[in-house]
Amino acid sequence: MSFTPFALEEWQSRYEHSVAYNLADSGCHPVALGELLGDDPEAVRRLLAIDLHYPPVGGTDRLRALIAEWHGADPANVLVTVGAAEANAITVSSLVSPGDHVVVMEPGYRQVRGLALNAGAEVDAFPLDPDNGWRPDLAALESVVRPDTKLIAITNPNNPVGTILTPSELAAVVAVAERVGAWVLADEVYRGTERLTDEITPSLWGGYDKLVCVGSLSKAFGLPGLRLGWLVAPPAMVEATWRRHEYATIATSMLSMHLAEVALRSRDRLLTRNRALIRDGYDRLSKWVADSNGLLSVVAPQSTALAFVRYDLPMTSAEVADALRTEGSVLVGAGEHFGIESHLRITHGLEPGYLDAALSSITKVLRTYQA
Ligand SMILES: Cc1ncc(COP(=O)(O)O)c(C=O)c1O
Repeated sequence: MSFTPFALEEWQSRYEHSVAYNLADSGCHPVALGELLGDDPEAVRRLLAIDLHYPPVGGTDRLRALIAEWHGADPANVLVTVGAAEANAITVSSLVSPGDHVVVMEPGYRQVRGLALNAGAEVDAFPLDPDNGWRPDLAALESVVRPDTKLIAITNPNNPVGTILTPSELAAVVAVAERVGAWVLADEVYRGTERLTDEITPSLWGGYDKLVCVGSLSKAFGLPGLRLGWLVAPPAMVEATWRRHEYATIATSMLSMHLAEVALRSRDRLLTRNRALIRDGYDRLSKWVADSNGLLSVVAPQSTALAFVRYDLPMTSAEVADALRTEGSVLVGAGEHFGIESHLRITHGLEPGYLDAALSSITKVLRTYQA
């Protein structure tokens, strides 16, 4: 069977440590361990006293309860995983068989798409419409869903364009799924990264019975290095994914589970820190776009530390991204990694000096091609 590599992650793993400026990561400037612990000697003492044995495979009881609270669920609905990446992978492998039909949202983070193709499924996409402020095209969703659709995957808030679905858009997705009996996978890793409001995007949990919600500490909490994520699902689906989790990873680390408890208890502090980076970063980026004399344009994202910037050059997004890497030592995501050309995904939730220097380097390279 043919294999579809995860093009975005391959691009990042090959090059993210060999450029001066990495604007291809999808979160904020990460939180340091001391900052997470709040420079509290008692918290440091507790960390140093941890026995490094196998942790509870599905997550500590305390952690499962904290995650349940984040989604308005019950701890029995929670399975702790190695990042949202594992949560998505074991959800797809639990639900999707060869010949099944799967629907995803595009532009999007193409993990579920690739996993479904690699499981032998047929995959169709419904668009977020660039001419309508990246709102979902619900008529297209209606027309692409079939009686044999097994799974509809959404990312809310969205990566790469930051769209937050309204309650009525979510209700429409659920209604389409219900009509054909499909599962919904709601990847909610960007909850808490809202740029225009302090209100956390509601979780879809409770909105449908065939639902898996996925979350993570990597984005709103600024802790990707902990490699800690989770899924929230009905008990039978928790069982099915847990059996796959035992094969794939057994568990995430004891240290990560302990630090995740600290992070979820420090939620307001971490979200405030990261939203400040996102708001300042987007202001800088949008000024940079405005100063480009029409070379660049962007639809203002509602959330995430990302901007999906359109460029006006006769080059593919892979060519532009490669030129930026080799000539400007800047790594960005290429539009083709998300299913749409003529765009670059640029992370802006970073330290101001670093971001400004990286954006000037991008401008220098793009000007040479414009000439
Ligand atoms: C939508 C989405 N889901 C999942 C992931 C994977 O996240 P994690 O670091 O928690 O594995 C990412 C990472 O970029 C993402 O953007």
